[in-house]
Amino acid sequence: MKIENINTPAYVIDEKKLRENLEVLKRVQDESGARILLAQKAFSAYKTYPLVAKYLTGATASGLYEARLAYEELMPCDANGKKLENHVFEPAFKDEEFEEVVGIVDHIVFNSLNQLEHHRKVWEKKVEEGRLSVGLRINPEYSTQDGHEIYDPCAPGSRLGIRRVDMPDVLPDGVEGLHFHTLCEQGFEPLKETFERVEKDFAKFFKQIKWINLGGGHHITREGYDVEGLIELVKRIRDTYGVEVYLEPGEAIALDAGYLVTTVMDIVETEKYPVLILDTSAACHMPDVLEMPYRPPLRDSGEAGEKTYTYRLSSRTCLAGDVIGDFSFDDKKEIGDRLVFEDMAIYSMVKNNTFNGMALPDIDIMHEDGSIEVLKTFGYQDFKCRL
Ligand SMILES: Cc1ncc(COP(=O)(O)O)c(C=O)c1O
Repeated sequence: MKIENINTPAYVIDEKKLRENLEVLKRVQDESGARILLAQKAFSAYKTYPLVAKYLTGATASGLYEARLAYEELMPCDANGKKLENHVFEPAFKDEEFEEVVGIVDHIVFNSLNQLEHHRKVWEKKVEEGRLSVGLRINPEYSTQDGHEIYDPCAPGSRLGIRRVDMPDVLPDGVEGLHFHTLCEQGFEPLKETFERVEKDFAKFFKQIKWINLGGGHHITREGYDVEGLIELVKRIRDTYGVEVYLEPGEAIALDAGYLVTTVMDIVETEKYPVLILDTSAACHMPDVLEMPYRPPLRDSGEAGEKTYTYRLSSRTCLAGDVIGDFSFDDKKEIGDRLVFEDMAIYSMVKNNTFNGMALPDIDIMHEDGSIEVLKTFGYQDFKCRL
């Protein structure tokens, strides 16, 4: 099947681009010794996990369900004989889930000393059996992002990670790793600066640890990212402190590796631009467009007024503000035309919803030869079963 024939709306994962991203990440691992994990919160289309397994060290989860997904779908993949790793971090683990969580992960990271101690009896057993490594998330209190406070774990009042002032004199028994996550869609320089801050404030603990996890938010596969700088930094950390270094990017794994294909259902004249009513929705199918907010890249389009025909792109939900943006085109749009939003593999399928009873888009994969396979379709039951 070709892209012109698929049912819409549909997310189409681009297998070639995914592989190319994974190759860049594998190079970072091979040349620096870093261990790179897929942050499933960004991308967890698990039918691609056999491919991911060929390149990365494992996956990280935001809680039991993602940890279980990796355990079921990633861990069994044959990764050239090496055992894949399953990691988890959650601000607070539920008592009734905790036994299951520690039964399926290799690393667990706690957000507070309270949480560490609260669950100690359960995790300590696994540590004694040599089946678990425990870490603490720290807050370096070093913001490197402008504007997006919602994505800044170092913003004042953040609940994420232990501040230096709240750290004990020595790490509690059983803790053998430190974790920080502070970046969002950033280059190498902010990571370097943040690590220097961590080094200044937390280095006294480095003697006690076996690993440090530098979190996600590294746009390693974006053109122009200073991959050499990253390799050098990881090597320096490993050589200086004798620790393993983990990175857990989400976006970088599937950056630009997917599309959202949609069809024009109607065209409504307004006193401003004509509005294209699409069979997709920002609110339901690309919530980050409204939440971040950002303007998604759209194939063969320009800014409003840049090309001959400008339209407002919107959806068939009832939400007046369910607007994707104003875009212009060389050609006049007709009902039935298809549009292709780019960079739609990340934070899309994992965040979508059925508000208004909207159907979820299909999930398709475009193989390297250009053919498209339908991986998943959804229907009324997917809406009903959640209510
Ligand atoms: C703890 C943690 N690790 C990794 C990630 C992945 O970040 P990204 O997808 O921006 O690389 C996130 C994102 O919020 C996170 O909170």
